[in-house]
Order: sequence, then C-alpha cells, then structure tokens
Amino acid sequence: MTQRIGILTGGGDCPGLNAVIRAVAKSLMRQCGAEVIGIEYGFGGLMGEVPRVRPLDWASVSGILMRGGTILGTSNRANPLRSEADTERVLAHARALGLQALVVIGGDGSMAIAHGLAQRGLPIVGVPKTIDNDIPGCERSFGFDTAVATVTEAIERLQTTAESHGRVMIVETMGRYAGWIALEAGLAGAADVILLPEIDFDIEAVAAVCRERERRQRYTIICIGEGAKPIGGELTVHRRITDSPDPIRLGGVALVLQAALQARLDSEVRATVLGHVQRGGPPTPFDRVLATLFGNEAAQLVMRGDFNRMVTQQAGRLTSIALAEAAHGSRRVPADHPLLRAARQIGVSLGEAGQPLGPIVGRPTDGPGAVPPCPRADGV
Ligand code: F6P
Repeated sequence: MTQRIGILTGGGDCPGLNAVIRAVAKSLMRQCGAEVIGIEYGFGGLMGEVPRVRPLDWASVSGILMRGGTILGTSNRANPLRSEADTERVLAHARALGLQALVVIGGDGSMAIAHGLAQRGLPIVGVPKTIDNDIPGCERSFGFDTAVATVTEAIERLQTTAESHGRVMIVETMGRYAGWIALEAGLAGAADVILLPEIDFDIEAVAAVCRERERRQRYTIICIGEGAKPIGGELTVHRRITDSPDPIRLGGVALVLQAALQARLDSEVRATVLGHVQRGGPPTPFDRVLATLFGNEAAQLVMRGDFNRMVTQQAGRLTSIALAEAAHGSRRVPADHPLLRAARQIGVSLGEAGQPLGPIVGRPTDGPGAVPPCPRADGV
C-alpha cells in the first residue's frame, strides 16, 4: 500500500523551510514511493471544516531550495490544543486524509503542539526551525546562519555612516529570550558593544564605552538582542497576540537604550530595529545544506517508523530526540560560552561594569595594575 505522509510548516517562517519540504518530499518519493500531502497554513490547515491541503509531487518541490519563506504558508496562531473540539477535528482530518504520519517543521511552540497530538495517537516527526537558534536539544537550527548574515551586513552598512557622522548606532536583532543572533552577528560585524538577554546590562558601563570611543574613534556600534534589558529593568514588549501559543512579541529595546544613552552622551545616538528583514530572503548555502540534511533525516525516521521524535544536531552529528524534550523552554547562551569569553578578551563590551576601556597601552608587568606578560609561543 502506498504510504501517505503529511507535511506542514508552523510558527514564524524562516529561511530554509522550502529546502526541508523539498528534501522530505523527494526522499520519501524516491525511497518508498510515498504520496506527500502539503498542509497549508500550519496546523490551521487541519482546523477548519474542510482541510486545506495540496498534493506535493516532484515538480512542485523542484526549484524551491533557494526560496525564502514557505510554499505551504504558516501560522503562529493556529493551536489545535486550545480546545478538545479543535484537537478532535485535526485528528479526524488526519484520519480522513489517510495520513500515516505527519512531518511538522516548526519551533518550540509547534513541537509542543506536535507532542500533544502525538500523545493522542498521531504519528509525528518534528524538524526544528527558527532563526533564534534557541530550540532545546538542537545546537544549530537552519535559518540562523541566514539571519546572522543579514544582521552582519546591516552592521557593516551602519558602520560607515556611523563613522561619517560620529554617531552611536544601535542595531536591534530578533532572537526572543536568547542572544545567539546578537552575539554571532555582533562579533561578525565588529560591534563595540553586544547586549544579550542573558546578561543584564549596566547603562553606565555602556555609556562609558561610548564616551571613551567618542574621544578615540568618534563612533560606536552597539548590537542588542530584543530580549536584553538593563539591570533592574523590564523586557521591552512590542505587542501581545493573545491567541498565539507564545503571546509576547518583544521589540523596541533599541529605542529605550537610545533614550537612556542620549541623556548621557554628547554624540548623537540613533537606533535601527531590523525586524522581519532577518527572517526574509534566500537561505545561505549553509542553511540550505543543514535544511536538506534535516529534511532527509526526517524522511528516514518516517520510513523506519521512528515517530514522536524531532530531528536534531548535537556535537555536530545528526540525531533525534523525543518531541517532549524539544517542546518547552529556550536554549540560551550559557555563561561559560567560548564566544562570550572571546568577546571580553578582545575588548568587546557586554555591558558589564568593571571592564577596562579601550586598548591597554604600556601597562606595567609588575606593581599595581600589572598585566601578566604574554606567554612565549614555545611555552617557556
Ligand atoms: O522566533 C522567531 C521570531 O522572529 C523572533 O525572533 C521574534 O521575536 C518573533 O519571531 C517575531 O514574531 P512575529 O513574526 O509574530 O512578530
């Protein structure tokens, strides 16, 4: 009997979704002659009176590898676990469509829904997606590399105008409660200050960096994650979407920081909130490859009947974890992450008090304020 497999994309879109759809569908079609059904607008496609589905044949998944967004459409509001009637309807549609399995490409919210439906008997394989790179149990999600490349380019563009005008430029990235995008793009774009949700910043320390650079270099670039906040301060919430599985939308902390810094500095301070530009456009080659690997691996799990698991990458290797493990929480930048250490050591401010400012020239190697001599390359 021909296998019939459904596939949907849930939550916010991200570059690389089409690459996963293509890999799942082609792998299933080639390896077991499966019939692949695309479900439109995430779980919403199974929640109406009539399911919104379309067959995905070889031609319809060809030529989409490099296209951003998702050909199936998505929704970050449709949540069939909100009521028993919605859950029942989704399960009934899946039965009526004859789906032997459902591949869910989504973030933590979609994985939580997938887990709930799996517990009700729907065989599911999850594929993690998010530009935020914050899904528990997955060290690298596709879409992240593209977002970092977009932010890095934006920082580079802001750098030349900041330099020309002698301004402090603040760039706000997405990322929710995790600072991965701000950290990697901040380092790649040579930001002078990187502010992350994981480290509450000291506004006086940030102002001191800008003042020191006003004297020495005239301009400063600050890269801030949308979930960052000052010590003792609050998150900056842009809006609340009550029917979304994750109702809080962050955004605008760059403007809050702009006002706080402007009150302390002579230089003009400007803020740029990058927003959804970070989610748009074609995936980078790295993301195309990662998405293809994830999609193909999801197809292998389906063919093995290894359900209720999510494809993931751990220690650089493809593997899978139980959906339940990926369904809750956020994978944040750990305090001992090597990128944080490297940032501090090369003089990038993380908004912490007590960090020495600017280059250290002619510091004595003994006495008060001494810096240890550099070890020789031969270790002597
Ligand atoms: O999770 C991806 C993400 O882009 C976050 O970085 C951002 O906070 C959020 O989605 C924005 O969601 P929406 O598209 O609903 O505004």
